[in-house]
Amino acid sequence: MKALITGISGFVGSYLAEYLLDSGEWEVAGTVYGPYDNIADQCDRLELYPAELSRLDVVTFILERAQPDAIFHLAAQPLVSASRRDPWGTIETNVRMQLNILEGVARVNPVCRVLAVGSSEQYGLVMERDLPISEDTPFRPLSPYAVSKVGQDLLALQYYLTHGLHVVRVRPFNHIGPRQRLGFVAPDFASQIAAIERGLREPVMEVGNLEAERDFSDVRDVVRAYATLITSGTAGQVYNIGSGESHAVQEILDILLSMSQVSVAVRQDPARMRPSEVPRIVCDCTRIREEIGWQTTISFKDSLRDVLDYWRDEIRKDA
Ligand code: GDD
Repeated sequence: MKALITGISGFVGSYLAEYLLDSGEWEVAGTVYGPYDNIADQCDRLELYPAELSRLDVVTFILERAQPDAIFHLAAQPLVSASRRDPWGTIETNVRMQLNILEGVARVNPVCRVLAVGSSEQYGLVMERDLPISEDTPFRPLSPYAVSKVGQDLLALQYYLTHGLHVVRVRPFNHIGPRQRLGFVAPDFASQIAAIERGLREPVMEVGNLEAERDFSDVRDVVRAYATLITSGTAGQVYNIGSGESHAVQEILDILLSMSQVSVAVRQDPARMRPSEVPRIVCDCTRIREEIGWQTTISFKDSLRDVLDYWRDEIRKDA
């Protein structure tokens, strides 16, 4: 089987590439936009296409050349905060790339499978009575990013219904791990601690909303779900991906600090606060567990330890 991973050099893409290659069952191609750092060790095992996926002619060219059996479409603008600064930029980028992938598959190779990556953000405003969030929870999006993911998800459904494409739709909840870039909570906190440890910044942590409770999984568990769903998931179906437990952002801070010797002051940075936030999110992962037997295997604490070690390494390399 041959996979094409869009956004292969990104946080999730690099782990998915490793997982598929290590399984011995996949040849892996990928599209790259931006730096190659995350896949530098694997480049000789990969077929790479530097590409701008917002152009349909580029997408069809890649599909004709690579001839994949399955596409994991991960490339996207992933930051909720960036989508508030540039709403149309995020909606245009995410929806256009998804549309081009689906249209390209319909034109070039309609039997190719597609994994369409949505987000738990699509559910948006959920109340305590809506928890845990199942796939049937209505969409009440709270950011342009969330709307872009609703758009991607519904385009995937439409191409399944009207073109018969084998599309599997996923709605991952928060995921963390080494290589995740700044702008997300775990790297934002871990990078500050690592810099404080090396004396590169004052012992003051800048944080946003510590009370929000989110369902965090490790990226290495998430890519295992993607790989299993592309072969064993039901076409047209949608799957939540999460741990089924929620953790307060405060816990991330406490766990990371408990792994370090530094003592810090904690300061709330108004710029890190979000205009609209749901207090608590928990994933109902019954469907994915029952249909493919997937569940998380890496604990929250182990994941955070790896994130902190990664940032210690990054800061040491830069120092
Ligand atoms: N980024 C960030 N930085 N978030 C902070 C900080 C901080 O310093 N302090 C507190 N938070 C809180 C945010 O307010 C939010 O409630 C929570 O930490 C998680 O924020 P992020 O890690 O930025 O993730 P996200 O929830 O906005 O979005 C991520 O998860 C979605 C799935 O639920 C992204 O990965 C999206 O692409 C993904 O769809």
